[in-house]
Amino acid sequence: MKIVVLAGGTSTERDVSIVSGTGICQALRQKGHQAILVDVFCGLETVNWEDPFPAEYDVEKAAEYIKGFNPQMKELKKARRDFFGSNVIELCKKADFVFLGLHGANGEDGKLQAAFDLMGIPYTGTGYLSSAMAMDKGVTKAMFQMRGVSTPGGKAMKKKDRQDSLAALGMEFPVVVKTCCGGSSIGVYIVDNQEDYVKALDEAFEYENEVVIEEFIKGVEYTVAVVDGTAYPVVQIVPKEGFYDYENKYKPGAVQETCPAPISEELTKRLQEAAVDGYHALEMESYARLDFIVTEDEKIYCLEANTLPGMTPTSLIPQEAAVLGMDYPTLCEELIRVSQK
Ligand code: DAL
Ligand code: MG
Repeated sequence: MKIVVLAGGTSTERDVSIVSGTGICQALRQKGHQAILVDVFCGLETVNWEDPFPAEYDVEKAAEYIKGFNPQMKELKKARRDFFGSNVIELCKKADFVFLGLHGANGEDGKLQAAFDLMGIPYTGTGYLSSAMAMDKGVTKAMFQMRGVSTPGGKAMKKKDRQDSLAALGMEFPVVVKTCCGGSSIGVYIVDNQEDYVKALDEAFEYENEVVIEEFIKGVEYTVAVVDGTAYPVVQIVPKEGFYDYENKYKPGAVQETCPAPISEELTKRLQEAAVDGYHALEMESYARLDFIVTEDEKIYCLEANTLPGMTPTSLIPQEAAVLGMDYPTLCEELIRVSQK
């Protein structure tokens, strides 16, 4: 297949996305596909227009080029405007499939998915509506609550309606303050006093105009991928220090990730069911990864759903696939297979 792997982009998770995209592109090449790596808004210099899908291709070189581009917010508007008339779209139209190695805003949030739907370009992952709902933690919570998926209590708050009194929100410490549309725990703060709460709001509102304030649930984190409606094995995530924040997520050895999770069969089954319920509550298709906290007395809370979850070769879904006997390149092909609608 001729495949464009889109990576990079403009979100706070740009760096993670480049690692995901590089891994995916290399894996698809190993499987004999003519895959190329392109930054969604700026990587066109990596394309040989005479032969856009060459048999021989240096993935590392393309990745290095993309890493060197630093999309400043100033350039972003222009980059976006250029995008729709641009050669990136032309390239995607020439491909048999577009593999979305993007994470976060302008990649995972449904906008690109809607544009591709309009243009008839096939891409990996779920559609625009579920992408948009899953990207917004306030909407996710509302959908989970409406559809009976257990999730921590909480509220979304816009910057213009900022409320510094938790009591006025009917909540009490400790709470988690999160940007509404962030990823990889950037802009997530666990706070147990007024001073830190105000500081967390200040910082979170630097990233976005909307935050979610959620009751803090003490427990252990788990994650479960759902592929084509079926749950994969459960991963247990135990950070050696603190919580599963950006540093712990991407620093090798900072967390103990165990798959299959060392928990009872009964809890495994309940987590897998909850993952499938969460997936349907957000009307997802193709694949997603849902994150959970489980309390000591084994009450399950779904925190969020990731519609383009991390796909670095050591990311969580690849670990789950490995337990099923599926290596990383085969998983990449499987994600294309389940995305063919
Ligand atoms: N947002 C990161 C990439 C994840 O969910 O894996
Ligand atoms: Mg996420």
